[in-house]
Amino acid sequence: MPEFQDVADGLGMPLAEAMSTQRAVRRLRTDPVDDETLLAVIELALKAPTGSNGQGWEFVAVRDGDVKHQLARLNRQAYSVYRRFASTRARGDLKAARMLAAVQWQADHFENSPVIVVACLRGRPGIFGFGRAAFYASIYPAVQNLLLAARGLGLGATLTTLPLWNRTLVRRALGLPSSVTPCAVIPLGWPVRGGYGPTTRKPVGEVVHLDHYGNRAFEQRVSGISTES
Ligand SMILES: Cc1cc2nc3c(=O)[nH]c(=O)nc-3n(C[C@H](O)[C@H](O)[C@H](O)COP(=O)(O)O)c2cc1C
Repeated sequence: MPEFQDVADGLGMPLAEAMSTQRAVRRLRTDPVDDETLLAVIELALKAPTGSNGQGWEFVAVRDGDVKHQLARLNRQAYSVYRRFASTRARGDLKAARMLAAVQWQADHFENSPVIVVACLRGRPGIFGFGRAAFYASIYPAVQNLLLAARGLGLGATLTTLPLWNRTLVRRALGLPSSVTPCAVIPLGWPVRGGYGPTTRKPVGEVVHLDHYGNRAFEQRVSGISTES
């Protein structure tokens, strides 16, 4: 199994390539992830911005079998509901069916992930205005950084929220005080297969509006970025 010094060079990957090939990698091997690799992805996560530079983040890295089992159970409970809607949508849609198969695989093997990182924030979302908007916005840039660092190192990762359907039970499993909010659950491990690759996304011109919503001035344009590696 690789250790940090074996994969560290991957962090020098061109930025556009990392961003264009970072994707949900759900099928993970059980081989351990060493401390250095784990701390590297979390350290790079911490380079992200937070509202007022508050840095109210906390990361719980779960390796304990019993705690992983509790998170796996929460994930399966939410997945059993999600699957009913998703499988209707996946009918006749090969890509959606493939994704659902991967989500099912992950649900079946969740507790076998070598480490599960739970990204948390101190405090709770406010009720009003910018405080509310800034709350979750102060953790997801860090989560994306973590995913990109994992991509560079070749470490499989997925941002999941299904296990968070019951935050009280997540808090209980992790021993979190009520003043800390779990925001994202990220199983990490070495991919069963290659894992990463080009993602399928909408063309840029389809989602950009000039000045006013509906004015798709760039619809016929393609960006100058080559995301082919
Ligand atoms: C807010 C959010 C919540 C997500 N929750 C889950 C989840 O609970 N389980 C899961 O397997 N993937 C989850 N994902 C991953 C998405 O399904 C995935 O990024 C999307 O399907 C695109 O897949 P790709 O990156 O492989 O192209 C989540 C992603 C986001 C942004």
